[in-house]
Amino acid sequence: MPKRSCGALAATDIGTSAEINGWVNRRRDHGGLVFIDLRDRDGITQAVFDPAQTAAFEIAQTLRNEDVVRITGLARRRPAGTENSKLSTGEVEVAVERVDVLARSLVPPFPVNADADVDESLRLKYRYLDLRRSRLQRNLTVRHKIVKAIRDFFDEREFLEIETPCLIKSTPEGARDYVVPSRVYPGTFYALPQSPQILKQLLMVGGIGRYMQIARCFRDEDQRADRLPEFTQLDVEMSFVDEADVMTIMEDCIVYTWRVALGLEVSQPIPRLTYAEALARFGSDKPDMRFELELRDVAAAFAGTPINFLAEHASGDASRIIAVRYPGGASLSRRDFDALTESAKTFGAGGLIWICYPVDGWKSSIAKLLDDTTVETIRELGGAEPGDALLLVAGPTQLASDVAGKLRLLVGDKIGHRPTDRFAFCWVKDFPLFERDPETQAIAPTHHPFTSPAPGQEALLDTDPFAMRAQHYDLVLNGFELGSGSIRIHDPEFQRRIFQLFGLSEQTIADRFGFFMDALQYGAPPHGGMAWGIDRLVMLACGEPSIREVIAFPKNQTARDLMMDAPSPISQEQLRELGLDLKAKPARGANPLT
Ligand code: AMO
Repeated sequence: MPKRSCGALAATDIGTSAEINGWVNRRRDHGGLVFIDLRDRDGITQAVFDPAQTAAFEIAQTLRNEDVVRITGLARRRPAGTENSKLSTGEVEVAVERVDVLARSLVPPFPVNADADVDESLRLKYRYLDLRRSRLQRNLTVRHKIVKAIRDFFDEREFLEIETPCLIKSTPEGARDYVVPSRVYPGTFYALPQSPQILKQLLMVGGIGRYMQIARCFRDEDQRADRLPEFTQLDVEMSFVDEADVMTIMEDCIVYTWRVALGLEVSQPIPRLTYAEALARFGSDKPDMRFELELRDVAAAFAGTPINFLAEHASGDASRIIAVRYPGGASLSRRDFDALTESAKTFGAGGLIWICYPVDGWKSSIAKLLDDTTVETIRELGGAEPGDALLLVAGPTQLASDVAGKLRLLVGDKIGHRPTDRFAFCWVKDFPLFERDPETQAIAPTHHPFTSPAPGQEALLDTDPFAMRAQHYDLVLNGFELGSGSIRIHDPEFQRRIFQLFGLSEQTIADRFGFFMDALQYGAPPHGGMAWGIDRLVMLACGEPSIREVIAFPKNQTARDLMMDAPSPISQEQLRELGLDLKAKPARGANPLT
């Protein structure tokens, strides 16, 4: 007798005997018969138990949701009028001859057979039950297809997938390391890789030429919806390439993956923006290109203005007055504008000016300070049409641009221009090579310390490092940074100077990067590459709000595994073996569900 999956039974099977295995999705007792919807990953099949099949019928009456059974019987056409067009198996049912209970289930803590909202902590604690639900089954299937398409793409181009180790020495990617104590060498620690950055560069020194890996990375950093302590990258590196070579192949991979895994076409070329352009036009280095609404500088309308708090921002490079257009915004109420003002404040602005352009006349939060001519100039500069509103943010350039960029996204949301089933990619390049650490104000790499400056700019290192541009490119999707990459420094002396610029002593360079500095002296080829966040990519492809929805067993927002209850204390014996003596007592009750 052929085994069938619950989703595979079709009209062509009618009249044949079949065996199906799965979970009881729902039991209905109806008109003297018992109906069981049996579920597996492929779908649902209806099984009908007739009292004439006494043994099977008696068992059917004891079945509860999530019990696991094997059913054998005859596939037959459902009686006319009882077909279910929502199911692929909706024309067919199995007339049960025999049922074997393979496992009983406790009553699940939340319904598995419905898409109802369930508290996320509960879902994470019982992740194996959550995995049975259609949302995660669908997301993990999409994830598999995406990763397979990526692997196929690079395989066809003769890249080698090479596994790099997880127990390594710290690699700087801007976050804290997760460390693993060594038992054999007490008092010493491995670090888990924040990314395979240094190792993939060493693969290039090792003559591998074209490398890729679906790599697990670990970063002890603040959690957000698009970040977890443990995540997966597509990691790529190539020798003898320039920026354009890397961007072309990565762009082709996006197009291939979207076509093969999602059945969607991405139009090429993917727009390329410079960092400065992205900030000026969208107020962000990860612009959401699903909608236009570009930011406009309206400072010129306030040249020579007597309005004190605007005069200081109306001229000079250090300040801006930026307008965000709100299509149709003229019909908003004062309360709507108050809410927008509150949002602007939470984004860091001191306040928000709004001007409405209804078909007749205008209104503004600073109406008393404005005249018709100024209002018309602002309208022209801000690109407002009749019926629109303009939201004006004034302040130091970076702050004004950042707040305006966030308001732009808010407006995009309000007018429904950010649908999750639209995909707008863009490249952002020509980043500054260095930035100031926001906390310490010290000079720091914008990307990481291995990024090469733009060709010919090496000499600026001694004179004006903040003027240096990087050979660094980001791939952005719908306002999320999907991936980052760069051409690397392959000259050991230049690499040493960069480390020194960050204040690393000769001793520290030798201790932390000695092996790497050695390697660069044995004929390192020019090389470059990129890494994408696979979880972010799949999250966006699935239209999900968090990467936890596309990971089988994710940590929660406070970096805990609620199912396994990790991290957790280890025994005194383990501590002794590792030569560790704890100062801090393990925190109790960190798991909200225990
Ligand atoms: P970067 O640090 O920009 O670059 O990381 C590349 C991409 O990895 C994803 N990502 C994350 N995803 C989930 N959770 C996190 N905590 C997290 N951190 C990063 C993002 C990001 O764009 N070695 C370099 C790449 C290179 O230069 O080749 C690197 O790791 O999508």
